Amino acid sequence: MTSTVVVRAPAKINLFLGCGERREDGFHELTTIYQAVSLYDELAAQPGAGDVTIEVRGDGARAVPDDDDNLAVRAARLLAAHAGVPADVHFVLDKGIPVAGGMAGGSADAAAALVACDALWGTGIPRGVLLELAAELGSDVPFSLHGGTALGTGRGEHLTEVLGHGQYHWVLALADGGLSTPSVYAELDRMRAVGGLHPWGSAERVMSALRAGDAAALGTALSNDLQPAALRLRPELRRTLEAGRELGAVGAVVSGSGPTVAFLVSTGAQAIDLAAALAGMGVCRTVRRAHGPVPGARIRD
Ligand code: C5P
Repeated sequence: MTSTVVVRAPAKINLFLGCGERREDGFHELTTIYQAVSLYDELAAQPGAGDVTIEVRGDGARAVPDDDDNLAVRAARLLAAHAGVPADVHFVLDKGIPVAGGMAGGSADAAAALVACDALWGTGIPRGVLLELAAELGSDVPFSLHGGTALGTGRGEHLTEVLGHGQYHWVLALADGGLSTPSVYAELDRMRAVGGLHPWGSAERVMSALRAGDAAALGTALSNDLQPAALRLRPELRRTLEAGRELGAVGAVVSGSGPTVAFLVSTGAQAIDLAAALAGMGVCRTVRRAHGPVPGARIRD
């Protein structure tokens, strides 16, 4: 009998991203507030032919590696080595999260692979250990497992749950092509070296808006230190941000390292209207709606 495990893992938006100095290991010290939103990658895992293999489908699939560079493949190998079991699985990955879009699509796939292989192989790895393995795979992978809304420190991998109220309605403007995360951080370092970049926003404002469940307050508090660097590399995103603001979004921010732009609105009806209006303006490749917070990587019923 062939068993298949299907795991769904969500995208993330950084509601706040405060970027500190570049560390000796090349990573930047972060204070970030993540929210998991209802845009998903789906990973089906079944017994393999003695190795780890993957087939990638969906939007942008051609830009996703299908070899050992794929984060799901790396996650499976890491889990197998940790548990002392053969690395034997075939994945079918269905992309719903924009590729290289600043929404942790690759991290979602790594988190999904950890959950899927743990179930498929019956390895019963404790949650805390899965989170440690996740951190080895990438800074955002622990959050992709965790989901909800959380404060991330260190490189983003140390998580503390953020308690808050309500569901938030998002409209996401997806761009043509992706942005490489290292190149956005490098551009930020360069801009900082030249001078003239000022600290922006405060995590406390985002926290208090979340505690109050106040979308309008959250909208004005959204901030991302990587945004100026993403805008320098992709100047056309300014027009996308402006368009959403003019159309009544209560908040507008580049998601993570971009180039996806996230707009916050107050109601589901406003999200439908904003998505339609943005799509009609030609300021992005395509538009998606999402809500958050949602749970992290989970086996689908
Ligand atoms: O951890 P992850 O593999 O997602 O990071 C990708 C790249 O993003 C790193 O190689 C680094 O260039 C940059 N990064 C960083 N500081 C962080 C997280 C990521 O400089 N806190």
